[in-house]
Amino acid sequence: MEQSKQIRKVMVIHGPNLNMLGKREPEIYGKETLDEINAKLQELGEKLGIDVKTFQSNYEGKIIEKIQKTSEIYKGLIINPAAFTHTSIAIRDALLLLDIPIIEIHLSNIYKREPFRRKSMIADVVTAQISGLGVQGYIMALEAIAKMVTVHG
Ligand code: DQA
Repeated sequence: MEQSKQIRKVMVIHGPNLNMLGKREPEIYGKETLDEINAKLQELGEKLGIDVKTFQSNYEGKIIEKIQKTSEIYKGLIINPAAFTHTSIAIRDALLLLDIPIIEIHLSNIYKREPFRRKSMIADVVTAQISGLGVQGYIMALEAIAKMVTVHG
């Protein structure tokens, strides 16, 4: 079977407070709920031949454990570490275990906000970062990862 026809698994990890999307500061993060975003990604995944799995946690350790397991099964990772973006060396270290494309994603443009949000602990260890395009950023991240995992097998 051709590499490109095989179903590829991509993990999407959402960090703390993203389970509150829809209610949480909608003027910054939009009105869509996390379930709605995940459903869009799964729908797009089906079109692209990608098996999209999603995971959300408010706990740093759970996110780290999920990243560690991702290295065994998944061909790509999309991650919005939310507030841990700015603080977590442990999440950065876990990402360094992976040898797959990783896209860091933020709904808001973290460089246009408070100074403490302008530093990402993971930006220099991921493949790419998308920041400030809202839900569209997730869509673009999945399209990009789909191309990468198909080309590189
Ligand atoms: C965020 C930006 C972070 O600074 C913030 O703590 C979040 C969400 C974003 O998607 O814009 O929780 O990662």
